[in-house]
Amino acid sequence: MNAEEFQSLLESQHPQPLGHLPTPLESLPRLSERLGGPTIWVKRDDLTGLATGGNKVRKLTFLMGEALRQHADVVITTGAQQSNHARQTAAAAAKLGLRCVLVLRGDPPADPQGNYLLDRVVGAEVRWAGERTIFDALEQEAAALRAEGAHPYVIPYGGSNEVGVLGYAAAMAEVLLQMRSLVLYFDTMVVASSSGGTQAGLVLGARALDYDGRIVGISIAEPAAPFRAHIAELASAGASRLGLPYAFAPDDVEVYADYLGSGYGVMSNLEREAIHLAGRTEGLLVDPVYTGRALGGLMDLVRRGEIRAGARVLFWHTGGTPALFAYAPQIL
Ligand SMILES: Cc1ncc(COP(=O)(O)O)c(C=O)c1O
Repeated sequence: MNAEEFQSLLESQHPQPLGHLPTPLESLPRLSERLGGPTIWVKRDDLTGLATGGNKVRKLTFLMGEALRQHADVVITTGAQQSNHARQTAAAAAKLGLRCVLVLRGDPPADPQGNYLLDRVVGAEVRWAGERTIFDALEQEAAALRAEGAHPYVIPYGGSNEVGVLGYAAAMAEVLLQMRSLVLYFDTMVVASSSGGTQAGLVLGARALDYDGRIVGISIAEPAAPFRAHIAELASAGASRLGLPYAFAPDDVEVYADYLGSGYGVMSNLEREAIHLAGRTEGLLVDPVYTGRALGGLMDLVRRGEIRAGARVLFWHTGGTPALFAYAPQIL
């Protein structure tokens, strides 16, 4: 299938345009030189818009389209206190005139910062999970909304389901068209992978469009084996939603889980070094939780020769920059 045909197949899913697309491709010559290895470019999905930007805009294009199709009057989702997904869902809801309820992990912070601050600015109603898991809390709060007579559309953690993944299948079509028009080829793509929908969408788009390069996921929090299986399942579910006969297996998914450090959201030297290097060489902001870890992973894979010196690499910048402000003391 060619990119235009795939794009019209995706259009049949009633996406709701929300962001600034296509996002730019930029070369990173100074960072590439500093690493002494591959040529590195960045896909600026941190510039998608919606209360700063990030990868969730692309997923929400399809998720919000579905919410509107189902005549929902409120969207509800969940995440960590510094969830980029929550912030972008809240901004999308505001833009579409829908109510938004966010179920956030734990208890309210003493000092609202970063994403949580922006959630409040765009008018989200925040419910704290407290002692509950965010998954239980999401179900309970959605049930409470139904009991009030509302029609909630429930968006899972990270927006990663068979609808959300279509956003990054569409992104693959977008980037392949850009590569064609710029006469550029990337043999390796690197992306931060956490709830898995972004990488799953890229893998699905790659199968549909015959992209044969590597799609390297840097796991943010999950061990590799179950995570590869999960991403394969998401990609298969997205394919089946589009009526495509693809079944993905864990072997179709490349993940490095070497950078989990002390866990989700815990910054270490890996992220700190990436934040400062991207900032100082290219004026590019990466975040402490996702893109800092992914870029730190990319740098390490270059050092280890797992990404070879002659490779042409595209780093998907998936956003997350509001969290920089919440981590200020650990960054400096
Ligand atoms: C900035 C950023 N990058 C990457 C990811 C990972 O995307 P996914 O959850 O689709 O794997 C997320 C979301 O969790 C994110 O907020």
